[in-house]
Amino acid sequence: MNRSRHVRPFHRAAAAIVVLGAAAVFSTVAATQSREEYLGGDTTVFDDGPTAFGRALANLGPFRWTEFRADKERFLRQWPERGPWADAVSCAECHYHDGRGPRADHVGGPVNLVRLGGPSPGGDPVYGIQLRRTGYGVPAPAHVRVDWEEIHDRYPDGDGYTLRRPTIHVSALAYGPLDPETRLSLRVPPAVFGLGLLEAVSDQEIRRFADPDDADGDGVSGIVREIRDAVTGRSVPGRFGWKASQPSLAAQSAAALNADLGVIPPGSSVSDGVHGKAQQREAEIDNGEITALVHYMRALAVPARRRWTEPAVREGEALFESIGCTACHRRQMITGELPGWPELTRQAIQPHTDLLLHDLGPQLADAVSEGLASGSEWRTPPLWGLGLLSTVSGQSGLLHDGRARSPEEAILWHGGEAERARERFRHLPRKARAALLAFLDTL
Ligand code: HEC
Ligand code: HEC
Repeated sequence: MNRSRHVRPFHRAAAAIVVLGAAAVFSTVAATQSREEYLGGDTTVFDDGPTAFGRALANLGPFRWTEFRADKERFLRQWPERGPWADAVSCAECHYHDGRGPRADHVGGPVNLVRLGGPSPGGDPVYGIQLRRTGYGVPAPAHVRVDWEEIHDRYPDGDGYTLRRPTIHVSALAYGPLDPETRLSLRVPPAVFGLGLLEAVSDQEIRRFADPDDADGDGVSGIVREIRDAVTGRSVPGRFGWKASQPSLAAQSAAALNADLGVIPPGSSVSDGVHGKAQQREAEIDNGEITALVHYMRALAVPARRRWTEPAVREGEALFESIGCTACHRRQMITGELPGWPELTRQAIQPHTDLLLHDLGPQLADAVSEGLASGSEWRTPPLWGLGLLSTVSGQSGLLHDGRARSPEEAILWHGGEAERARERFRHLPRKARAALLAFLDTL
């Protein structure tokens, strides 16, 4: 299909606007300024309700709509092929309404994954890289309960706050004990909109902001999570997942099908699960299914900012920069070229991430390393959509394990490379702290 045919009318319209704008200088200025709310460039949609993350790109080629609806079915469907071990029945069960985590009234315990790190890269010698909670025709591997321990502390000005941290309790292990060396890490499912834009950011652009030895001396380094591309053998930056473990949406989708749903993707012959008990099976689905999932996620738009002109928000925005948040939560990027996706190509986006790994200190460390990412290293998460997460998913936690109940709590957990920024935040006057939080809420 000739994609460029779909975009030409769009470019022509844009050109027309520029010509009109040149005639009236003031309107050009206004138009440039108003781009600030367009977090996803021309793909940005205007929806601040529960469907905010499920909208198709505002500039989606008109011939793509039918495909988009069909692809959405894959994301929603309960895979009949799933099992013998799984954590859910569908992608949407964990990424409800394309947002973070399951729906608020989800039954059957926490759907947050329990990642396993062990003495070897394969995780626990018996249970593998993930402790699953369901078995189809076989015993469920384990039962998992999460308890929260509260920690009380104060700002330098005396205002109190309460943080909480999870403890994971595992019981009813059906296939013997966990290895004594095995460590557990709770993982919240991130939202899945805007990921096509992040996939379209060029490798060079990501590498450009890496500063592994902190050459600029700002206390913040930033490492590219190098991953070997299975097809080309080249080293490419990891982009997706809390530790940037996956280089592409295709790789992430194949991994999710196998690890989370027990569906065997092309190129695999055995389902992830309990080692030694899994049966060799043929791949159960073909590449078309993966492509459909990838296309669905690429076509999900970023919602626009709200209330962004309010004076307190403006003040918070300046603070976000001056206290050092933007050292990692980079505001602007230009996407490169994503073949077949003119909609996502060369867009000025504001994801508020650098897609790099940072050491956030021992408090957030989970002692589970993934490849080159150590237990205390995490990929800066994008902050677009932050203010809408709970509108879409109900109460859902921030940070990799969902421990933070608000952006304020999330900031207060920052340590390691981000300790300086956190301390600057803690030492702000109450009103300035509120301004920074007001700014975050407009994202
Ligand atoms: C059992 C819950 C669960 C299911 C089912 C699930 N996911 Fe996820 N998903 C997660 C969690 C948890 C993460 C973060 C994993 C990590 O980094 O450790 C994640 C991460 C992702 C990411 C990366 C997002 C980002 O911002 O980096 C994508 C994309 C994704 N999942 C797509 C899918 C697709 C497609 C399916 C269906 C085939 C699926 N997921 C099924 C829980 C789930
Ligand atoms: C050194 C890099 C770095 C700096 C500086 C930094 N952050 Fe972060 N931020 C991260 C990383 C990495 C995470 C994810 C940590 C985790 O999940 O355990 C994160 C997570 C967050 C989250 C939670 C996002 C989510 O989706 O759960 C918020 C909100 C946030 N940061 C805001 C801020 C603010 C505000 C500042 C400035 C006070 C700041 N950050 C400074 C790297 C940084």
